[in-house]
Amino acid sequence: MTTALLDVSDLRVVYPGHGFRARPHEVLHGVTLQVDESETLGIVGESGSGKTTIGRAVLGLVRPTGGRIDFLGQDITHRTPKERRALARYIQVVFQDPYSSLNPALTIGDILGEPLVVQGASPRGARARVGELLDQVGLPTDASERLPREFSGGQRQRVAIARALAPGPKLIVCDEPVSALDLSTQARVLDLLVDIQRRTGVAYLFVSHDLAVIRHVSHRVSVVHGGDIVETGPADKVTSTPEHPYTRRLLLAAPVADPVEQRRRREERQRLAAAAPPA
Ligand SMILES: Nc1ncnc2c1ncn2[C@@H]1O[C@H](COP(=O)(O)OP(=O)(O)OP(=O)(O)O)[C@@H](O)[C@H]1O
Ligand SMILES: [Mg+2]
Repeated sequence: MTTALLDVSDLRVVYPGHGFRARPHEVLHGVTLQVDESETLGIVGESGSGKTTIGRAVLGLVRPTGGRIDFLGQDITHRTPKERRALARYIQVVFQDPYSSLNPALTIGDILGEPLVVQGASPRGARARVGELLDQVGLPTDASERLPREFSGGQRQRVAIARALAPGPKLIVCDEPVSALDLSTQARVLDLLVDIQRRTGVAYLFVSHDLAVIRHVSHRVSVVHGGDIVETGPADKVTSTPEHPYTRRLLLAAPVADPVEQRRRREERQRLAAAAPPA
């Protein structure tokens, strides 16, 4: 058997309760998933289902209370801060919010170049690499002189993607990377991510609540519901003829442009809701 790039098995996460009488609660109840090299695994589910928590555990930003995370065949479940910094070379992240994820005081050139210099690149080497990265994400070279506020949301996400690509990672966790963008910008940024994957072979763990977005980029899809994965399969199968009733409800809840189809879906959704206990 070949080893997956990322292998998550029976992952559990408990968040401490906050405030008076609050109790710790488990939000992931044993999540198992694999991501292969150059593959996109889409994680879809409703708000609060635990999607971000899965990504944060993979990034080492929350401590699993059970289960195991292997990356390139090595157990990375409990990383020390030092190990986490070393792994950042291989596992990167793009977050949802293009407005808060970039330091507003730094030029794009510094945002992209400083980590490279910290990793040992010469200032000249870093500048050349910044030019390459900007080109890879479809931004002009003179973007490096400018500040984040001079860019649109879509362009800022391109900068965030360039920053994630900078160390040449094997895996990028994308947490709702296009959810703050308008529809046509979403499509362009998603196409860019697919194109980058073709060129670099990077794998994505791609989190979104939006089935259309997930379908656009994923090879396989896992559906999370209340901290459990209820279904995993090829993207077109899971997003068109899903097996699990929860995925069917999620699919029927996605808006469509056609009003007749929209009404049919509403009726089907009501029928399913009447047949199953509320999720
Ligand atoms: N730091 C935290 N402390 C305590 N509870 C948390 C924390 N972060 C998330 N939770 C809870 O964990 C559950 C899962 O949250 P998570 O952010 O993973 O969901 P999500 O699927 O990403 O939702 P969304 O689509 O809204 O981003 C939720 O019930 C949430 O309230
Ligand atoms: Mg989230």
